[in-house]
Amino acid sequence: MLRVENASVAYGRIMGLREVSLVVNDGEIVTIIGANGAGKTSLLNAISGVVPLKSGSIWLDDRQISGLPSHKTVGLGLGYIPEGRQIFGTMSVSDNLTMGAYSECARNRLSTVGYIGWFLRRSTVQSNLETVFGLFPILRERLNQRAGSLSGGEQQMLAIGRALMSSPRMLLLDEPSLGLAPTLVKEILKLIVRLRDEGLTILLVEQDATAALKIADRGYVMERGRISIEGTAKELLGDDRVRQAYLGKSVA
Ligand SMILES: Nc1ncnc2c1ncn2[C@@H]1O[C@H](COP(=O)(O)OP(=O)(O)O)[C@@H](O)[C@H]1O
Ligand SMILES: [Mg+2]
Repeated sequence: MLRVENASVAYGRIMGLREVSLVVNDGEIVTIIGANGAGKTSLLNAISGVVPLKSGSIWLDDRQISGLPSHKTVGLGLGYIPEGRQIFGTMSVSDNLTMGAYSECARNRLSTVGYIGWFLRRSTVQSNLETVFGLFPILRERLNQRAGSLSGGEQQMLAIGRALMSSPRMLLLDEPSLGLAPTLVKEILKLIVRLRDEGLTILLVEQDATAALKIADRGYVMERGRISIEGTAKELLGDDRVRQAYLGKSVA
């Protein structure tokens, strides 16, 4: 489904990514492990079109997506849950979710002519909202609250919910458990498995590498902008280099 080929990202003279290649197949959970500054966020930013590639290419199915801006990659089915959640704190929960549906509206622009198009678009947004409330009932209760007043866990749910509003086929998650209590981390990981079971493909960056590998099919280890080790989740959990460097304390 997703293919990254020899992708490099540069910030002036600093290299964020150096010729990274990886694949995420349909229905997989793939995790990226690595220390701070290894290039994990640069990788997700490059895939979603937030930062441009210096060289290499990125493919979604048979379509080259490198070079496309992020609103286009969202329209093609990539939902991005960025590091630090980046919800709109002064806006209501409801408005945050509606913003997430923007690409759903843009994608269906051609069919918005006339009543049927309007109805289809409205019903997709409505059914996505119901999906989000099914996963996170608390968001329905908080609908008119300012997003900034939610707890950290609720804000993460909102960030995931907002991404789901665009009807994604694939989710890119950057450290979704950062700053959350251990029980919430477990909840988020369980939710990721549930989303995969419901048909989504997942690329997950997670600081708790052990917990991430326990739910993942495969993983890649990044060091200084490169992929240094790759394998099935089981192989990585058993790899001495990975164990020593990355598999410390885990909530799982
Ligand atoms: N906007 C930026 N400007 C300059 N350097 C950056 C920027 N973003 C990331 N970097 C650098 O790129 C490298 C990779 O960073 P990043 O992708 O954020 O790693 P990670 O997410 O694994 O912590 C680091 O050396 C970091 O300092
Ligand atoms: Mg990061």
